[in-house]
Amino acid sequence: MSSVNISIWGSGSGSNAQAILDYFQGNPLVQVVHIASDHPGAYILERARIHGIPAQYWDAETRKNPDALLHILQKYQVNLVVLAGYLRKVSPAFLARFAGKVVNIHPALLPAYGGKGMFGHHVHEAVLAAKEKYTGITVHLVNEAYDEGEILFQGKLKIEPGWDARQLASEVLKLEHFHYPRIIEKIAKKMP
Ligand code: GRF
Repeated sequence: MSSVNISIWGSGSGSNAQAILDYFQGNPLVQVVHIASDHPGAYILERARIHGIPAQYWDAETRKNPDALLHILQKYQVNLVVLAGYLRKVSPAFLARFAGKVVNIHPALLPAYGGKGMFGHHVHEAVLAAKEKYTGITVHLVNEAYDEGEILFQGKLKIEPGWDARQLASEVLKLEHFHYPRIIEKIAKKMP
């Protein structure tokens, strides 16, 4: 397997990005080469700067321009785009030219509790409101619809009595931080 270069896209804190950065630190085959956000002040960009990795704010113009996105990814020789808390829909025109190489993590067991508006605390509140006994995480390929691409991995988590949405979010995030880097590594090893 030749080396796999990853670009991480996120809209917020970037704790998953941090877990991925830490996991692949010093890895000869898989490395994070670029981090982008749709928010100029998103902490995920600061995490990139701390790691000495190119960090870019992408305005609407750039996000909607597949040529611009592809040009930047080609500049860093990116093989795999990893969405980690990226709340924007990825342009179908870009996906058509980067097919099968964009993955996402969702803090629930898709197809349940997915789709437009289902992000962050909204997911966990809906899971609790439905009195689910389990929740979990889903890693999937990204297509033009929110949270509907091919499922690559799911991890389940038993909901303990008394957990509120904050506690649930915290437990789910721990599961994400453990599994996402390892699933990315599995995907990278299968890449041509
Ligand atoms: C995670 O819960 C992830 O499942 C969802 O957005 C959140 C990102 O959190 N897509 P962070 O920015 O990685 O801390």
